[in-house]
Order: sequence, then structure tokens, then C-alpha cells
Amino acid sequence: PHQSRIFSGMQPTSDSLQLGNYLGALTQWVALQEEHDAIYCVVDLHALTVSPDPSVLRDRTRRTAAQYLAAGVDPERSILFVQSQVPEHAELAWLLSCHTGFGEANRMTQFKDKSGKHGTEGTTVGLFTYPVLMAADILLYDTTLVPVGEDQRQHLELTRDLAQRLNSRFGPDTVVVPEPHIVKATAKIYDLQDPTAKMSKSAESPNGLIELLDDPKVVAKRIRSAVTDAEREIRFDPEGKPGVSNLLTIYSALTGREIPALEADYAGKGYGDLKVDLANVVVDFLTPFQARVHGYLSDPASLDAVLSDGADRAQELARGTLERLYDRSGL
Ligand code: ADP
Ligand code: NA
Repeated sequence: PHQSRIFSGMQPTSDSLQLGNYLGALTQWVALQEEHDAIYCVVDLHALTVSPDPSVLRDRTRRTAAQYLAAGVDPERSILFVQSQVPEHAELAWLLSCHTGFGEANRMTQFKDKSGKHGTEGTTVGLFTYPVLMAADILLYDTTLVPVGEDQRQHLELTRDLAQRLNSRFGPDTVVVPEPHIVKATAKIYDLQDPTAKMSKSAESPNGLIELLDDPKVVAKRIRSAVTDAEREIRFDPEGKPGVSNLLTIYSALTGREIPALEADYAGKGYGDLKVDLANVVVDFLTPFQARVHGYLSDPASLDAVLSDGADRAQELARGTLERLYDRSGL
């Protein structure tokens, strides 16, 4: 029995996570594992929806896990595993898909966004049922809290609707209805070249991205080239000065210094000074982070052993939930 259980995951869809994933998600995961029973997953089944090259996917799955570890996810304290190693995810997704209305799934706006460009004729059923697999990920572990960004709110609502449906059909103790955990203090990081768009690993151009595994020289150059504004004042004003505010957010998040203190430090100084100092702050963070990632990647046998141990522990929990649901479903 646990008071609260956290589940979260990221797709292994790129070689490197970006700074927004780190500041917006991974640092929260690391903090949450102190107080909660936490399960962190590399959701490789979800990544199949973008038809990755098999060897690229396998490599990115390991790299993503190594970045979780380097950020401080502790595999002793938390469960860290790869989704496809616990087949109960796919099994529960099927069961849930038989309780999901077609119209209900069809209202998911992320599917419309992701398939929109090509029209539904050119897309896959997997992309369409992605939110059902996500619901399975969460419900398998009797999750109480799901740390998510605003973009995942609708998918979590579907998860809650499905959970309530199962409970009214099969009994109130069938599954736990999870709550979203939208972390308010979380830094939202914006693209360096378009500071009104969120930084994303799927951005069209890499120039506004800070990738955690990029060459520090490239990162420093991107920070020095960040878009600011025509004023000279270093002031936190996300509406009026999104570029400068984004730089201050990153600076504050990586150093722990409050933004007003940073504004005071830079009173009378120029944007160039801020950028040079921030580039140093980011490089000082990235250098040891990358060394840790490369340490994990240079010993794939140990990394695989950590993941396989995590999968065993996850499966034990998942099996119990799935058996309960199979039994109540007449299977
Ligand atoms: P990406 O857009 O880089 O592909 P994902 O959609 O896979 O990111 O999100 C993975 C996690 O990182 C989520 O918890 C999401 O809320 C968080 N995240 C992604 N981008 C940012 C950002 N720019 N700022 C803060 N958090 C972010
Ligand atoms: Na994404």
C-alpha cells in the first residue's frame, strides 16, 4: 500500500532531450521521488507511432534512460524501466480500447494536430489510439498522481473517464482514478529563436534548442545568438520581453538564484553580458551531465541490467492490475 504513486514517461524520439524536458520534467521527477513512490518509464511503444528506424529507436531508448539517470532518477528509490519490456502495457491498452468510444477518441486534439498535415488517410491507427495506451500506462500502476504538462491535460481526462467507467462497470475498487499533477513552479522554457514557442525536441530548426547532449560550444553559440528585443534593459517581463525573460528563467532554474536578484546583478549591463554569463552557466551544467550520460552509455550491460531489474519490479505491479481486470472482464 502506498499513499501516492507517481507515473511519468517520455518518448525516445530523439538522441538528446532538450533543456525544457530537463527543467520542466526531469528535475520535478527527481524531486518527487523523494516523497513519493515513483515509476519512470521510457515509452518506446509510443515512439513506434512515428515509424522509427529500428536500430535508431533501440539506441534512443538507451540514451533516454541514461539521461533520466544522469538527471538524478534513482533506480533504487524509483522504478525505472522500458515500456515494451512489460507486455502488460499493450495488453491493458487492448482492454481499454474496448471501453473507449470512437467519438471520444476522435475528440483528442493532439491526434488532429499530429495527423492533420497528412489527413487521417495517411496516418496510423496507432497514432489514433495513442491516448488509450497512455491510459494503460497510468492505470496499470494504480497511479494517483501524474506529473504532466498542460498539453497532456486532455489525455489525462480521458484516462480518468476510462477509470471511472471501469469502476462503475466492474466495481468501485477496480482501478485508481489518477489526478493530474501540474507543477506550477516548473519553468516553462521557450525556443531561443522564437521565445513565444515552447522549446521542443521536435522543433523544425535546431537553432533555438538547447540539447542536453550537444557540443557545449554549439550550445554557447546558440545562447549568444538568442533573440531578445530592441531595448537594453534586463528585466523579467514574459509578455513584453519574452526572449530576455526566457534567458532569466533558465539562469534562475540552473543556479537557484531568484530572478529579482539576477535583475539587480545585471542593472546597467547589456544583453551580451547576460548571454555570455548564461552560456557559462549552461556549459557548467552540461559538462558533468554529459560525462554522466556517457558513463552510463559506455557500459550498456550495466544499463540494461538496471532497466531489466526495473522491468521486473514494474511487471509485478502491472500483472496484479491486469489480472484483476481480466478476471472482472470474464477472461
Ligand atoms: P518535446 O516537445 O521536447 O518532444 P515532450 O512533449 O516529449 O517534449 O515532453 C516531455 C516532458 O517534458 C513533458 O513533461 C513536458 O511537459 C516537458 N516539456 C517539454 N518541453 C518543455 C518546455 N519547453 N518547458 C518545460 N517543460 C517541457
Ligand atoms: Na513531443
